[in-house]
Amino acid sequence: MDVRFLGHACFELSDGDTTVLIDPFLTGNPKAAISADDAAATTILLTHGHGDHIGDTVSIAKRTGAPVVAIVEIAGELGEEGLDVRDPNLGGTVKFEWGSVKLVPAWHTSTTPKGTVNTPAGLVISFGDTVVYHLGDTCVFSDMALVGKHTPIDIALMCIGGHYTMDRVDAVDAAELIGAKTVIPCHYNTFPPIETDEEAFKSDVESATQSNVVVLEPGQSHSA
Ligand code: NI
Ligand code: MN
Repeated sequence: MDVRFLGHACFELSDGDTTVLIDPFLTGNPKAAISADDAAATTILLTHGHGDHIGDTVSIAKRTGAPVVAIVEIAGELGEEGLDVRDPNLGGTVKFEWGSVKLVPAWHTSTTPKGTVNTPAGLVISFGDTVVYHLGDTCVFSDMALVGKHTPIDIALMCIGGHYTMDRVDAVDAAELIGAKTVIPCHYNTFPPIETDEEAFKSDVESATQSNVVVLEPGQSHSA
């Protein structure tokens, strides 16, 4: 399975047959690796409703027919737009032929561009034999230690940019709590308020924890 970073908090998980697209903010994203018209998706997953996450969900879902998994309030809004939605809440798991996704807490706020207020989430994605935890937008919190208790995390996709989320220093604590084999940073350097030093994050995590940090430029992939 390949994890391809598409810029900001957008990732594509793919094994060649199935493509899981997460937080497809491409139009208007200065770091987008592809255009929304070129995005592939078998399933679309959303952490929360902010514009830099919901992004191009409607156009990509309409073009591809991919079902969208989002917390119930966002799923309600997207369902009214005619999309095929799955509407779990925190703690809920949605199963697909390729695996499953579970919503876990994230400490943040969220309102969609259309005004639907919703609770943000992290996503625990089991894709084949690989478990990927997309933290969404969040500060660090101690319950992150519970996320991998029953499903040890292979890859954590972790915000590090600060200002709207935890910064790279708090994210080292998050990496320690989560204990993933691999950490891939995201949600940094897209806009001036979230500029950070990703190489300092990498060396701090690798000195403090057992995790390896893989820094991906937009468009680059990591093979799991
Ligand atoms: Ni947000
Ligand atoms: Mn965000």
